[in-house]
Amino acid sequence: MKLHDRPLAFIGPMGSGKSSLARRVSAKYGGEVIDIDKEFTRRYGSISDFFAQKGEQAFRELEQNLLVEAAGSGAAYISTGGGAVLGRRGMYALRKTCTVVYLTAPIEVLKERISRSDRPLKNDLERTVEARAPLYEKYADYTIDTSVDSVRELERALKSKRKNRYDVLLCDSDDTLLDFQKARSVAIRAAAEKFGLPCGADECDRAYKSVVCKVWHRLERGEITGEKLKTERFVELGKALGIEFDVAAFNEAYTSEMIKTRFVLDGATEFLQAVRERGIKRYIITNSFTNFANERLKPILPFVDGAFVSEQVGYYKPDVRFFDSVCRAIGEGDRSRILVFGDSETSDIKGGTDSGLDTCRLVSAPNACTDADYAVCGYGEVLDIL
Ligand code: S3P
Repeated sequence: MKLHDRPLAFIGPMGSGKSSLARRVSAKYGGEVIDIDKEFTRRYGSISDFFAQKGEQAFRELEQNLLVEAAGSGAAYISTGGGAVLGRRGMYALRKTCTVVYLTAPIEVLKERISRSDRPLKNDLERTVEARAPLYEKYADYTIDTSVDSVRELERALKSKRKNRYDVLLCDSDDTLLDFQKARSVAIRAAAEKFGLPCGADECDRAYKSVVCKVWHRLERGEITGEKLKTERFVELGKALGIEFDVAAFNEAYTSEMIKTRFVLDGATEFLQAVRERGIKRYIITNSFTNFANERLKPILPFVDGAFVSEQVGYYKPDVRFFDSVCRAIGEGDRSRILVFGDSETSDIKGGTDSGLDTCRLVSAPNACTDADYAVCGYGEVLDIL
């Protein structure tokens, strides 16, 4: 019989019984255990010697590395050290793949359990437990008291549905919900033909693809305005093609083609529907122009609670003022309960992070380099995180 459908990560103070619970559930249900403190000792020697020689900071760095490794290992039970919650990197990695269980016990019980060990921070237990309690609570999917029978408590807890980790999903649209690459290609080809640009549609498509991101990045860095971008992108296209044309008129032609496109990425509407069923609010956050976005978002608008279009908001991602306006408009609440989801490191992830929001990046390869709290290759992984 299986205890749970995902690996379990145990967090909690020293003496809360993380290692012993992992051993006991593994003995009863099977499944590999990774004990982070043991793994640390195996690789780097005694923890108290390490603290004495290299200091706590060096320990924390390695501890977070081990957590990230364990989170991706597929082990059924991960027993963490009491200070695991001090680092975001390891904790978000655990959250992505595991269900996180917070183990507690009255302070006298914790003290008694660790009285004969040589843990470096044991003398400060009461203060440490109090200071870290908000972090344990933040990361806990379930909380159990381990003073009597922790296996039974765990079995009982896991019978109830885990609560959502987020109340709101702020979701980018282009290349997150809509196939923007395809739309852009279709629109630029049609515009080039109708406008009679003296180059083939293929050549125009290739050239536009090579210049457009650079122009958007200039907007993201605040070097040009949205209004300027509308024509500047085609000035750059002209340079790349070595031709001159009326860029304002070409912008009109491109826009009128673009707003006809309706390419929703596979699974996007089902994903938004599933998020709704979990009781989580969904808003689109897009760097776009008002008339343009109003049309292009039509196929997905019925699946969200609202949309924020940068031209209308007055600021473009990653400007924190964009995210501040969005948070205000949706009724702010607790920012730690809002997740930003998008494909762009420079607009969605940077803006979300700078605004104090958790971030999730849609990437094409699992090991993509990102500053996001989570990297995912598909919508199913986002549902697991939420
Ligand atoms: C620590 C807890 C210990 C161990 C290290 C630091 C802490 O793990 O990682 O001594 O900061 O609370 P246990 O919680 O398994 O004792």
